Amino acid sequence: MAAFPLAHVIESQQFDRDLLEVVFQTADQMKADLYGQRRFAKALEGRIMASLFYEPSTRTRFSFESAMLRLGGSVITTENAREFSSAAKGESLSDSTRIMNGYADVIVMRHNEAGSAARASEISCIPVINAGDGAGQHPTQALLDMYTIVDAFSGMSSLKIAMVGDLRYGRTVRSLSYLLTKYENVEIIFVSPPVCKMEGDIKAYLDKNNVPWREETDLARVAPEVDCIYMTRIQKERFHDPEDYLAAAGKYILTLDRVQTMKPGAIIMHPLPRVDEIPKEVDDDPRARYFQQALNGLYIRMALLYLLLKKD
Ligand code: CP
Repeated sequence: MAAFPLAHVIESQQFDRDLLEVVFQTADQMKADLYGQRRFAKALEGRIMASLFYEPSTRTRFSFESAMLRLGGSVITTENAREFSSAAKGESLSDSTRIMNGYADVIVMRHNEAGSAARASEISCIPVINAGDGAGQHPTQALLDMYTIVDAFSGMSSLKIAMVGDLRYGRTVRSLSYLLTKYENVEIIFVSPPVCKMEGDIKAYLDKNNVPWREETDLARVAPEVDCIYMTRIQKERFHDPEDYLAAAGKYILTLDRVQTMKPGAIIMHPLPRVDEIPKEVDDDPRARYFQQALNGLYIRMALLYLLLKKD
């Protein structure tokens, strides 16, 4: 296997189509191996991953930690680093990063500020993986999202995807938009309340890369037309004005009745956690892929850790 060209994983734009293929093929290998021969069970033996989470997480932190352990590596970790690390005493991110360089072989970092992972990577001699930086990006989520889409539509000659909900503060939809530009015949429909529309930088990037997009407010009109509905939570914690949150909350619910209007072969995705935007009764519909999507995060993160840390 060729050397992995990235020193850090900070943003989706780092991945071109060839690199995506490398990550997805490695994820396929990891998935097959987990339920098979376990040839990779000691692949990262002796290596240490530091998971440094300044914001809450279930999927990203646990899947990264599970991935490292399943590859034979070890994990040192802090959840709620804003309270339980020396950040609470005023230590800078730069100092914390420098210190972790001596203790670990890779840093997986979730932070509340956009650009934080990039700043850490500038002074880190070990790989930094962005596990979500405020309303910035969540590139490993985008990788597992794209892996899920490619798996669902093998061959994928075209894709019409609706991104629904909090598109303004949603780092997952931002990161996924970048990756979608790497594929042919993709069309994106942004469905959101007026207070959380997709930002202009993403729209400009899509224009530059000739990816057609449009904005809608009516999910009922869009649902029958798309191959994928990517629901997102309205993120109360990111709104500066409570009035804006109230204007956005509860506006888009993908009810089972609405799901029945979707194409039979379409899929429903969600980065999770969900609040009320996908009722539980949708979970049994064959189009619901969000739990498989979350599991795919394990294979993708095993692949990334392996590619970043394996000895040549
Ligand atoms: N999708 C995602 O990032 O989930 P967590 O916040 O639980 O990590």
